[in-house]
Amino acid sequence: MRIQNNIAWITGASSGIGEAVAMEMFKQGATVVLSSNEVAKLKEKKAWFDSVEKGRCYVIPFDITIPDEILQAVAKVKQLVPRIDILVNNAGVSQRSYAMDTLIDIDRKIFEINFFGAITLTKLLLPWMVDSGAGHIVVTSSMAGKYGFRMRTAYSASKHALHGFFESLRAELYHRNINVTLICPGRVQTDISLHSLKGDGQQYGLMDKGQQQGVPVSACARIICRAVEKNRKEVYIGTSEVILLVIKRICPPLYYWIVTKISPT
Ligand SMILES: NC(=O)c1ccc[n+]([C@@H]2O[C@H](COP(=O)([O-])OP(=O)(O)OC[C@H]3O[C@@H](n4cnc5c(N)ncnc54)[C@H](OP(=O)(O)O)[C@@H]3O)[C@@H](O)[C@H]2O)c1
Repeated sequence: MRIQNNIAWITGASSGIGEAVAMEMFKQGATVVLSSNEVAKLKEKKAWFDSVEKGRCYVIPFDITIPDEILQAVAKVKQLVPRIDILVNNAGVSQRSYAMDTLIDIDRKIFEINFFGAITLTKLLLPWMVDSGAGHIVVTSSMAGKYGFRMRTAYSASKHALHGFFESLRAELYHRNINVTLICPGRVQTDISLHSLKGDGQQYGLMDKGQQQGVPVSACARIICRAVEKNRKEVYIGTSEVILLVIKRICPPLYYWIVTKISPT
């Protein structure tokens, strides 16, 4: 699938990976629908897109933890564009707290944003996509969706859950011309650590050293667009994080040891 002339709906488009993917897809000729919870940030992004070319960017703000808002967002999108070719389920929040220090409500909140938000939107959009005869669903998982990591218990669990759901969905949609790509980034240079939740639900508010040294976000976005074009099933983005995944596969005991040593920040 070429990105050009397609219509892409990107959640979590107000910052980081979602914003970069929206820019890359727009640059490659797609029409983009930007969503997040922050109206002002989205309007700012739209102004930039409109200054490049008017009529190829729409904004639909909604809170991905509120099913009614998702329902209304889908209804609005149906009025704005003839179809959605690419849905990028990217909105997410990370965690910076040990399990013992994390309130169960915060574990649930992380699941509501990272897992239930993505599957609710997908399930509401899917009948329309199926009727259109084709589509591509992209899911921003994480390396933490492939292996556990300190201070990421609920985050890692929510990302693992995405794999179970969307791998099963891919098999269900095989004969309906709808593809699924799971993206597993390691550390990417975004503000994700600043926005991460502590155990009491407060924002962590710090830029982690690991984050700062991550893959540039524009490079990550280009890899994601290429993965859509090539219909990749699963993509790993990172450096030492990808090596650790290989180690987990070929020598699990070494992974069990290394993962206790790596700094979670
Ligand atoms: N950066 C990394 O190193 C990394 C690594 C692996 C995976 N990922 C994944 O990549 C995705 C994007 O992360 P990022 O690095 O770009 O972080 P980010 O800059 O913090 O972006 C997170 C996005 O999610 C949106 N969001 C959060 N809660 C929401 C809610 N309740 N309703 C609607 N939107 C909500 C935010 O929008 P508002 O705040 O405007 O609502 C923002 O646009 C996430 O799923 C993350 O888990 C990132």
